Amino acid sequence: MRNRIPSGETNEKYIISGGRKLNGEVRIMSAKNSLLPLIACSVMVNDEVFLSDCERTSDAENMLDIVRGLGGKCHFDNGGICLDCRHINGHKTNAELTGKLRSSVFILGPLLSRMHRADICYPGGCDIGLRPIDLHLTGLSSLGVKFTSEGERIAGECTELKGREVTLPLPSVGATENIIMAATMAEGRTVIRGAAAEPEIIDLQRFINMCGGKVSGAGTGRICVDGVNSLHGCSFAPSGDRIAAGTFMIGCAMCGGDVDIIGVDAAHVVSVTGLLRAAGAEITERIGGVRVKSSGNLRAPGRIETKPYPGFPTDLQAPMTALAASAKGTSYIIENLFENRFRHIPQLLKMGADITVCGRAATVRGRKLHPADLVAEDLRGGAALVLAALSADGTSTVSGLSHIDRGYYKLDERFRALGADIIRM
Ligand code: EPZ
Repeated sequence: MRNRIPSGETNEKYIISGGRKLNGEVRIMSAKNSLLPLIACSVMVNDEVFLSDCERTSDAENMLDIVRGLGGKCHFDNGGICLDCRHINGHKTNAELTGKLRSSVFILGPLLSRMHRADICYPGGCDIGLRPIDLHLTGLSSLGVKFTSEGERIAGECTELKGREVTLPLPSVGATENIIMAATMAEGRTVIRGAAAEPEIIDLQRFINMCGGKVSGAGTGRICVDGVNSLHGCSFAPSGDRIAAGTFMIGCAMCGGDVDIIGVDAAHVVSVTGLLRAAGAEITERIGGVRVKSSGNLRAPGRIETKPYPGFPTDLQAPMTALAASAKGTSYIIENLFENRFRHIPQLLKMGADITVCGRAATVRGRKLHPADLVAEDLRGGAALVLAALSADGTSTVSGLSHIDRGYYKLDERFRALGADIIRM
């Protein structure tokens, strides 16, 4: 099982003159991590689907290409994505595409449900750890799928999917989503115990139910799916991207300023809010957003440990490490979810950061960072480098933008609108 670096790497980079305060409003769009399983799930819908407020991240574009390769029609329109999967006729995904993103594995459940067979390549994605898919495969096997594997490819087949009790040994977000999708049109009831409880799973439940499915319990560790015969189309608004919102919150806290972040559920970012308050930023929560005010002079947020939702998200560990690196005092970061999610740290060291790593723990002694030429090595690590460069006085560059493009659309424009000096060259 391999992790691949996304192809299409360019020589483009961000040139960032840091030290400017951020002010204004930023509107958060649909969560990338909701959208990707929803695109896959649309393969099971014999009708038209519209997903609103979507950004053209490269992960979303690649996921749509996978659906097109199976015979689906999809395009960006009216600020969202239109999908029509009535004519899906393939069951085999393109190896190059599936190798580009981890979320390609989401196609397994829907394809097995619709075609009773699926043939995919082991998924790629950010190189943040081993990222096995064993829990997806054992979960789907419990519903009656037989898998065979040859080289890079893995094929699944079933005569029909049957509802069962499935217990996950750890709350994998992706495995929970794949099993829910496969169970949606299976015969009988599936109960998933030990399920992940992330807001993106609640989005998937809302979507499936809006299409006529019967899923309950999302947001808890026990999810129940009663199989239905078919799904009809719908127009669906996924929730705002809590990780993008957290990135802007941390950025504003680091740079100083006053930013209103609109379109995110304040409850989804509550763990970020707590840490930013501990660091000295002022956060106001309201319905549909949060406002961050900061002088930019922060103290160490203290101990930061990544955990499944509602704990502090691993996807914001790198941005929070950048904050801790420039705040006054010592912080301790513990990365519990992925074994290789400190790739931003050598880059922060180039900026003069004082960080020591021991296994999955990092001790960060905050100090003033200086500008440097930085290279993004994964999506959220890349965002962390942008934040560090925006807050450090002087001119930095960030290359490796294909990683950042996976999950943030026109990040430079969004920060420029808040007063940052950042251009893409
Ligand atoms: C989702 O990945 C997100 N991706 C990740 O966001 C996020 O970091 C992660 O959840 C945790 O919150 C999407 O939703 C598209 P997991 P996923 O299965 O589903 C282990 C980003 O930056 N595991 O919950 O792949 C795994 O190795 C991305 O936007 C197995 O052992 O995460 C990890 O240690 C990166 N076997 C833990 O579970 C499996 O079969 C949690 O992974 C599956 C997972």
